[in-house]
Amino acid sequence: MLVAIIIMYYFVIAHYLCTLMNTSIGTDVGLAATLLSAGELVAIPTETVYGLAANALDPNAVLRIYETKGRPSFNPLIVHVHDAGEFEKYASEVPVLVKELAAKFSPGPLTFVLPKKEIVPDIVTGGGNTVALRVPGHPLTIQLLKALDCPLAAPSANPFGYISPVLAEHVAEQLGGKIAYILDGGPSMIGVESTVITIEDNKIIVLRVGGVPVEDLRATGAEVELRVNQSSNPKSPGQLKSHYAPRIPLVMGDVNVTTAAFPEKKVAALVFFEKNFASNIIAEEVLSPSGDLKEAASNLFGALRRLDKSGADLIVAEHFPNYGFGMAINDRLERAAYTEKS
Ligand code: TXA
Ligand code: MG
Repeated sequence: MLVAIIIMYYFVIAHYLCTLMNTSIGTDVGLAATLLSAGELVAIPTETVYGLAANALDPNAVLRIYETKGRPSFNPLIVHVHDAGEFEKYASEVPVLVKELAAKFSPGPLTFVLPKKEIVPDIVTGGGNTVALRVPGHPLTIQLLKALDCPLAAPSANPFGYISPVLAEHVAEQLGGKIAYILDGGPSMIGVESTVITIEDNKIIVLRVGGVPVEDLRATGAEVELRVNQSSNPKSPGQLKSHYAPRIPLVMGDVNVTTAAFPEKKVAALVFFEKNFASNIIAEEVLSPSGDLKEAASNLFGALRRLDKSGADLIVAEHFPNYGFGMAINDRLERAAYTEKS
């Protein structure tokens, strides 16, 4: 009875606040917790990108994530917890190698795909028998997870297929009015999504390159295998070829050569450290003037959004060096460039 009254109380308060606010942005962890406990959606800051969070144990709340993003329901979600010690609550098996990696990289941009326990609803895992678990490296979201008695399912807080948000304002631009609250934790410092791994025969299988570079995984001494494209990787159905895409077309290649190939087009250029000066370049983003790939990754999605709004006909992005954070940058750009016809 008492529980029912408490739930009702949360529900009424949350709905009242939502109507009042119409998706406000703020730093109120208590409010975010109240809304999430009442089954509402809240955008949360992480060190990688902003997430669109719901109570991971409430199938109705999780269903609203898919509806709000327009995301296909076969694409499973990451479950966020405040400490790697929590993995055992949701995974039926936590290999020693996962514990070692978590001790080194969690909280941080590393997601572990593990066999799931019954308690995790099917809608979170796309009906599959594994669950993706991560401890996000952001103090506000850790505080929020500690205040809740449930983990949070959260994909990136963008409409399906579009560029991931790295600022609270990016979330507001696209999901404002559709969700209860945006918890503002400032800019996402890493700027690309987490690296997703699973373990097979004591080997690390990388399902998505991201915020923990592959070299850092290899440096642990473990064997590492990349399985990052869709055909080699039915386990990570989210690795769709076309993703992270701006609204205007994006082409990859040497900026001068590619720009010269489209003399009649207004071009927006995305480059690593060196500016280009072709006369039809109307906007240009240099991701790291000092040539630092980590800095470049942190600037990638913000720059893509600005170029998308620049009034150009086409974005031309150069290939980045394919190591360290450059691998995640190239992966995102290649998916942004992909169209069904190409
Ligand atoms: O950095 C991140 O990972 C961000 C923040 C918010 O945590 N989240 C994120 O979520 O990027 P999302 O939904 O945009 O990407 C999750 C990725 C997808 O590629 C999905 O297919 C994969 O993780 N994934 C989730 N559960 C999986 C599972 N059980 N097996 C294999 N892959 C899984
Ligand atoms: Mg995403």
